[in-house]
Amino acid sequence: EKNGFRSFMDKEIHDQPHAVADTLLGRTDINGRLVLDDLRIDESVLRSVDKIVVIACGTAAYAGHVAKYAIEHWCRIPVEVELAHEFRYRDPVVNSKTLVVAVSQSGETMDTLMAVRHAREQGAKVLAIVNTHGSTIPRESDAVLYTHAGPEIAVASTKAFLSQITAAYLLGLYLAQLRGNKFADEIAEILDDLREMPDKIQQVLDRADHVRETARSMADASSVLFLGRHVGFPVALEGALKLKELAYIHAEGFAAGELKHGPIALVEEGQPVFVVVPSPRGRDSLHSKVVSNIQEIRARGARTLVIAEDGDDAVLPFADEVFFVPQSPTLLAPLLTVVPLQIFACELATARGLDVDQPRNLAKSVTVE
Ligand code: BG6
Repeated sequence: EKNGFRSFMDKEIHDQPHAVADTLLGRTDINGRLVLDDLRIDESVLRSVDKIVVIACGTAAYAGHVAKYAIEHWCRIPVEVELAHEFRYRDPVVNSKTLVVAVSQSGETMDTLMAVRHAREQGAKVLAIVNTHGSTIPRESDAVLYTHAGPEIAVASTKAFLSQITAAYLLGLYLAQLRGNKFADEIAEILDDLREMPDKIQQVLDRADHVRETARSMADASSVLFLGRHVGFPVALEGALKLKELAYIHAEGFAAGELKHGPIALVEEGQPVFVVVPSPRGRDSLHSKVVSNIQEIRARGARTLVIAEDGDDAVLPFADEVFFVPQSPTLLAPLLTVVPLQIFACELATARGLDVDQPRNLAKSVTVE
């Protein structure tokens, strides 16, 4: 079943081009308009939504975090992202004009399910982004957008994460289409960019030797930090989570802009820090600020492990290692930049002799609150 891979995790990381391609498949009707799988919400309700709240746990919540950047940019609707267990217990402000988006691989996570029930009791409509057909969360939701990642066996999520991000982009474009935020040709253009992502993910996989060697050389690391900005911030959080889950190494992700407000105090000689660099072709100031961050931590002795876009030579003077990924539109980049971090965690854990498919203390689907 592992198709010659050492672990399910390794296989699932390599399945990612397919998982994204399959999630994009068959999403338009004969008129080229985006459609959802199962919509039991009146379109007029979706047109009048004035707030979106994404609820999820773990990796799925980081997919929601990426969704926020894309949906706010494309649809101009405010998006909040909240851990389902926090949402449920804090008397959240939701009503019939709120669209709650529940993201879950299993569709069975009890914390997320309880939050879905609570949101519906308050009159909100709930749309589920779920991988497992027939699971409880989509059954109890008003609409469903299935991710087509296929069964994910390894406890820590990889291909489901990329599929969730992809589905969130589709949802953003669907809402933009419905609400008239974007012209049909603009949406078609972004869909074309999205359809190029599976090949680009494959290119990242094809270049993985460098990140594997780096991971093996760091098997004794006791702490790794991850920095990112804009959509690179949730990628940093996910990179840190993967390393905790798989390798049991202390890891933290930070928003790069927050560095000087605290985390830089952690940087000492030899501290490994991954930095996810935004495209230099995107907003200029964003790129240069992150490059300055690399410079700042390097000057304090950090070992800088940089994820940057092909052609971004500006990072070279300050990087101990650079892992280049193909060029892509800024909002879509998480589908590429997270992949080296997944491979890093998987390889480092394997080098430590750990079972990457069944990390200690974790369960694939947590069906208790
Ligand atoms: C955790 C899993 O318990 O649940 C994570 O170990 C996962 O990998 C999280 O991201 C959420 O699960 P689901 O099925 O709701 O996406």
